[in-house]
This record gives sequence, C-alpha cells and structure tokens, in this order.
Amino acid sequence: MPSLVHTEIETAVKGFLIDQEKMTEVVERMTKEIKMGLAKDTHARAVIKCFVSHVQDLPTGKERGKYLALDLGGSNFRVLLVNLISNSDVEIMSKGYNFPLTLMSGSGKALFDFLAESLSEFCHTHGLENESLPLGFTFSFPLQQQGLSKGILVAWTKGFSCEGVVGKNVVSLLQEAIDRRGDIKINTVAILNDTVGTLMSCAFYHPNCRIGLIVGTGSNACYVEKTVNAECFEGYQTSPKPSMIINCEWGAFGDNGVLEFVRTSYDKIVDKVTPNPGKQTFEKCISGMYMGELVRLVVIDMIAKGFMFHGIISEKIQERWSFKTAYISDVESDAPGEYRNCNKVLSELGILGCQEPDKEALRYICEAVSSRSAKLCACGLVTIINKMNINEVVIGIDGSVYRFHPKYHDMLQHHMKKLLKPGVKFELIVSEDGSGRGAALVAATAVQAKSKL
Ligand code: BGC
Repeated sequence: MPSLVHTEIETAVKGFLIDQEKMTEVVERMTKEIKMGLAKDTHARAVIKCFVSHVQDLPTGKERGKYLALDLGGSNFRVLLVNLISNSDVEIMSKGYNFPLTLMSGSGKALFDFLAESLSEFCHTHGLENESLPLGFTFSFPLQQQGLSKGILVAWTKGFSCEGVVGKNVVSLLQEAIDRRGDIKINTVAILNDTVGTLMSCAFYHPNCRIGLIVGTGSNACYVEKTVNAECFEGYQTSPKPSMIINCEWGAFGDNGVLEFVRTSYDKIVDKVTPNPGKQTFEKCISGMYMGELVRLVVIDMIAKGFMFHGIISEKIQERWSFKTAYISDVESDAPGEYRNCNKVLSELGILGCQEPDKEALRYICEAVSSRSAKLCACGLVTIINKMNINEVVIGIDGSVYRFHPKYHDMLQHHMKKLLKPGVKFELIVSEDGSGRGAALVAATAVQAKSKL
C-alpha cells in the first residue's frame, strides 16, 4: 500500500477492493443468472437475458464481397464500406459522423433520420447511391432478435433515452428513414450487437475465437453456445446448425440486487443521476461511461472532508462527468513516483499547486476503480468459459477501456488465471474493427442464407 496515501482515503475506497472470495461468489451468482437467461421457463424473469443473436455460423475465411455497415453504440456513430477481398485482404473505408448529443434524448424519428442522412452522404461521396448494397447494422443496445434482420429494442443504455424506439423493430425504423429520403438503395440484411461483431471479426483470423467482449462506454459479452441450449430460439431442437452466438447482455447483472456486496455508496450516487436508475448495475461498476464519475465522486468527497487538495475544490471538478475515464488511464500511465500525466489531468480540472501525497491519493483512487472493473470483467469471462466447459479459447476484445488503460489487459489475465480451473488456456486478443468487418461478415451470412432459400 503506498505510504503517502492517507488512511482516510484507503478507508473511502475499501469497498472497491474486492477479494478472491468475493470474486468466486460473483462467478457463482452470475452462473445462475446466465442459466436462467438461456432457459425458456426462466428467461422472462432473468436479468442476464442471454439473447439469441441468430448468428449460427462463424466465419470460414471464404466470405467475399462489398458491404455497408452502420455502427451506433456509444459516443460515436460511423458508416463503413467493407470489401472482403480475400482472407488476408479486407479493405475498410469509414467515416465518423459528429453525433449531436441532443439526439441521445430526442425523438426516435430524429435519431433514425440522422442515421439515414449520414448513410446517404457517405453513399453519395463514394458513388454508391445507385448500388443496392447489403447493410449490416451494429446496434449496441439490448435487442430481442427475432431473426437476423429483426430486432426489438428492449431498453436504452449508456445515456440514450430516445422516445418511441423501445419495443419497436429497429431495422424497420432504419429502413423507413432510408425510404423516406428515397435517394439511396440500401437493404438492411442484418442487425447485430457490437460483441457479436467483435467475436466474428476476431474469428475471421483466429478460428478458436468463441467469446466477444466489449469494455468501452458500456460493457457486454457474447459467446458460442450449443444450439440445443439456446432454448429461446424456436429451432433449438431442430436446427441443423450446432452453434448459436448468445448475446449475454451482462450489463444488467445485479439489477435484482445480487451484486450489492461489490457496490459502494459512490455507485449508488452514479446510478441515481443516469437516465436508467436501477438498471445496468454490472455495467455501471465496469464500463468507461461510469468509471471516471466514480473517481470524481470519491475525490470530491475526500476534498470536502479535507483529506485532499487542502480542502480546496475547483469549479470544474464539481461538474458531473468532468473526470473523464480517459484520465484514469492517463494517471495510471505515469511511472511510479512520476506525475507528468497526473499534472496534466489536474490542470485540466483546474486544480493547481498540489503536493505529492495528493497525486498519490488520486492514483490510488483510480487504481481502486479500474482494478474492480477488471476483476468483475474477469469474473464474467470465467463464468462464460466455465459454462462453455472448454479447455482452450480465444477471446476477441474491443472498447476504449481495454484498449487504452495501461494495465487492464494484464489485470484481466491475472484474475482470470486465478479463477479458472487449472489447465484451461485462454488468449485475450484485441479485435480490430468488429463493427465494420464483423458487421460485414454477419451481413455475408445473411445474404448467403437468403440465396439458399
Ligand atoms: C449494451 C450492449 C453493448 C454494450 C457495449 C451495453 O450498454 O446494452 O448491447 O454490447 O453496452 O457496447
């Protein structure tokens, strides 16, 4: 424990420091919830829904052709053109569109009109307005899928709350917005979760990839299940295909109260100010949308009690969400005893002239929040690997927290090794462009399936 850190600060963050025993308990509870989500009888009351993705084929490496993809899932919105040329040559052109924050809580119509407008702009720029290309829509919110191209939005997450979308088929809403414009000829053939795109994209190069994980603005995982266990899929007993990708939607774990033993008073404050209080409990302990705010709440509590920054508070740090999750990565990227990034963060927050113990305290708080995130994520992955009952697996991962935090990968690996049965081998691999290449691969599956009809 760093000697410079005040005992009061250690006490304040104690709740974030979960031990091995608690992690084992998380795995046990999560195992129960996943089983409930998969089973037909218990699905309706399960919190981890384990939605059927309708993706039953992993990539063969032989998929070819040009596809469009849309990626809506968090802070960014992108349109992509993916050309699968060979198994080693995939050409991707993409453009990010400035997503006005007001759209997140506006009307559903405004949201889908914006998506269609961006898509149209992209098609016109690339001379695709007269081509009838298949489109894969990476839509990273909980969907009850009724087919590859039909998905009903169950709830918004990650700060979205657009009216008139929950309970609707998102593919129809997009297609209607495209048709309202009438200036492009796009055919939405598949809708998928970002975890599924991540898995597919990674499996294109790593045939043993069976799990897709996102630790970014939100958090979630999907995995390859036996079709016979996917009881909510109509054809679970008759399908000729042995596998089904399950979109766990693990972010909702704990919404029934089973995670209270790893939550802190700070988690409860964060939860209250979100548009979905009481929902996405696990995600709110793990993901990038919330980690920075958790750190900020601990810091302002410590300032108010006079344990940090001589009790002097800046205007900036009093603003909600002003401590970006990227700051956690910055602070933890400094070598021990160095404070270059930390100084930059403090100056951006308007906190000047603080001493080394304050900077150590800030780092300590960041580490407490990020290590709990990695531990809980490790618990989730171990639950899935145990459920799959396999001895070797590749896990494709994407998301800003995993990509940019300097120690996240190592922490995840370390805790997974401690929790897994001896002899189980796994590899954590960054999955490149799941929302583009992954969406194209799922769209290719959809096109193939149609051509066989
Ligand atoms: C959504 C998931 C998504 C995850 C990561 C969560 O908030 O519910 O569908 O996969 O974020 O983007």
